[in-house]
Amino acid sequence: MRLIDLAVPAALAAMAPMAVATTSSGLTPDKLALVYQRMVELSTKSWENGTRAQATLEWKNASLSVFSPTTPLPLPDGLQSSSIPEIIELAESTLANRPNASDYKVNATSTTTTAALEDTATATDGSSDGEQTASATTTANATATSTPWVNVPAMNNTQLPVGWPLLKDDAAGDPASLGVAVLLANATTGDATYNGETYGAAAEAQLNFLLYDVPRTAQGAISHRVNEAQLWADNVYMVPPFLAYYGALTNNQTLLDLAYTQISLYRDALRHSDTNLWQHTVYGGVVDSGMWATGNAWVVAGCARVIATIQRSSFASSMSSQVADLQSWASEILGATEKYISSNGLLHNYVDNSSSFEDSTSSALMAAGGLRLSTLNLTNDYVNMSLTLLSGVSKKVNDTGYVTQVTDPYTFSKQGTESPEAQSFVILAYSAYNEWVAQGSNGIEKGKNPIGSSAASPRATAGMAGLLALATALWVLA
Ligand SMILES: *[C@@H]1O[C@H](CO)[C@@H](O)[C@H](O)[C@H]1NC(C)=O
Ligand SMILES: *[C@@H]1O[C@H](CO)[C@@H](O)[C@H](O)[C@H]1NC(C)=O
Ligand SMILES: *[C@@H]1O[C@H](CO)[C@@H](O)[C@H](O)[C@H]1NC(C)=O
Ligand SMILES: *[C@@H]1O[C@H](CO)[C@@H](O)[C@H](O)[C@H]1NC(C)=O
Ligand SMILES: *[C@@H]1O[C@H](CO)[C@@H](O)[C@H](O)[C@H]1NC(C)=O
Ligand SMILES: *[C@@H]1O[C@H](CO)[C@@H](O)[C@H](O)[C@H]1NC(C)=O
Ligand SMILES: *[C@@H]1O[C@H](CO)[C@@H](O)[C@H](O)[C@H]1NC(C)=O
Ligand SMILES: *[C@@H]1O[C@H](CO)[C@@H](O)[C@H](O)[C@H]1NC(C)=O
Ligand SMILES: *[C@@H]1O[C@H](CO)[C@@H](O)[C@H](O)[C@H]1NC(C)=O
Ligand SMILES: *[C@@H]1O[C@H](CO)[C@@H](O)[C@H](O)[C@H]1NC(C)=O
Ligand SMILES: *[C@@H]1O[C@H](CO)[C@@H](O)[C@H](O)[C@H]1NC(C)=O
Ligand SMILES: *[C@@H]1O[C@H](CO)[C@@H](O)[C@H](O)[C@H]1NC(C)=O
Repeated sequence: MRLIDLAVPAALAAMAPMAVATTSSGLTPDKLALVYQRMVELSTKSWENGTRAQATLEWKNASLSVFSPTTPLPLPDGLQSSSIPEIIELAESTLANRPNASDYKVNATSTTTTAALEDTATATDGSSDGEQTASATTTANATATSTPWVNVPAMNNTQLPVGWPLLKDDAAGDPASLGVAVLLANATTGDATYNGETYGAAAEAQLNFLLYDVPRTAQGAISHRVNEAQLWADNVYMVPPFLAYYGALTNNQTLLDLAYTQISLYRDALRHSDTNLWQHTVYGGVVDSGMWATGNAWVVAGCARVIATIQRSSFASSMSSQVADLQSWASEILGATEKYISSNGLLHNYVDNSSSFEDSTSSALMAAGGLRLSTLNLTNDYVNMSLTLLSGVSKKVNDTGYVTQVTDPYTFSKQGTESPEAQSFVILAYSAYNEWVAQGSNGIEKGKNPIGSSAASPRATAGMAGLLALATALWVLA
């Protein structure tokens, strides 16, 4: 009875958007379809495609996302590639654009890193163009500007497996964001070949590149950049979720542990202990010591994905302390951020700088992360702030489905007119939102939800059908 009381009204509410339309600021299904379409059209860069793949998974193929409690990892046999057409398309375009191994030979005699080493610190993708913001004044690590002692494992050990990335990129971390899509293509095609390479081998080369050919800090943090050790908060969404997923699919706990350790090392270097906010980047040629809001959101959302991956894996029971740490690291950022939310329900582009513009991009991803901690049944403490942010962002989506008032994705300190990642973040946030509604809208007083129940997605419908079926089954049993 209790399940029916809770689940059915939530599910029915998700089905009947007009019932609450007068007070809700949530986007309608039609508007969300436009947001999705713009996401598909705008996404071109490695990390944009990787984030888009995750948004497609969570929105359209939720049963295969790590947030689905019903799909254990490793994945069951018999999955068909025809059931995830958009993921396969992204995996195919990735393999079509894949660089040759010969471009990535580590030169064991050189004193500098030679993997892809014609690249310089100046990003051709523009992602390092941001203006330097005011210097950090709080922690020793965060004020560091010189690259710490660097090592590249393959340079001192030519016996290590050869690695190279899925895409040619000055960022070492960004191409790995497509790793989950490639691993899913592998699992659903029985390791098919595309453009002369199997999906499994392409994923393995990407893994080996990260493990052996990318520079590391003295502490072992794998750089976000190819040419030198630089740590960017963004990396937490790009690399650890791939490492964890690879580990979960291949029953390799070492890789799940590494996903955790990498986040821990990035936190050591980027977090300001007095505020719990993370500065954007540290070390090397690109140091943005400001508390970039999207960077903090990448961390929260990346932690949520790694937690979910661990929990779906066969090592869940032995990794509860790692899950607890990851949850507390995500929580400390959410908690630190809440007080800076503007009266429009948005974060500033630099969280603690109220002179920086109010930014939809980070607000959407932060909301997604906060709601995921709730759907993972970890804590409802950030539900209210997430709904505030999602409500604020929803008002910035225009009639043609563009998220407006965004951080320029290629010059992070500036406001831009459109953003592929912001489109994906809104889809991620509504994916989390719908699941949160389907689970009973926990953590907020009745009638206080600013979004309402206007957002039906394929996932919400599927979830609803499942809940109704379960409720009916229990009813019959009772
Ligand atoms: C991103 O995906 C689009 C659509 O599949 C594709 O056209 C584009 O080449 C991809 N970008 C990269 C860097 O692979
Ligand atoms: C995945 O999404 C596609 C649309 O991109 C849809 O046709 C398909 O049925 C979905 N499959 C699953 C397993 O959810
Ligand atoms: C890989 O090498 C082949 C043959 O040399 C060349 O045609 C192709 O353009 C190269 N691919 C990339 C992505 O550089
Ligand atoms: C390796 O690096 C050394 C020193 O920089 C250089 O002389 C040599 O040509 C490089 N070899 C290759 C194969 O790139
Ligand atoms: C190789 O190992 C030596 C000794 O441990 C170390 O000093 C050096 O920095 C290493 N080089 C690289 C590129 O990792
Ligand atoms: C790729 O798929 C093959 C065949 O199903 C499987 O044996 C292999 O472990 C997969 N590789 C990865 C890295 O998941
Ligand atoms: C786990 O993955 C690492 C990195 O690829 C590899 O060295 C190790 O042998 C793997 N362990 C197992 C148990 O497969
Ligand atoms: C950060 O500072 C602490 C304490 O000074 C130090 O132990 C740690 O190694 C530093 N981490 C990095 C990544 O520099
Ligand atoms: C805050 O943002 C404004 C506007 O971008 C900028 O001029 C100012 O330097 C920033 N302040 C700090 C402390 O970073
Ligand atoms: C969270 O709890 C709900 C209700 O008990 C359950 O349906 C759901 O599967 C749980 N989610 C996870 C990720 O464990
Ligand atoms: C929820 O958020 C709203 C808007 O930011 C705020 O006014 C309200 O006090 C919050 N409620 C709780 C219980 O924190
Ligand atoms: C929505 O925003 C986009 C990107 O800024 C713009 O090109 C488009 O004209 C806007 N559409 C409407 C209806 O305002």
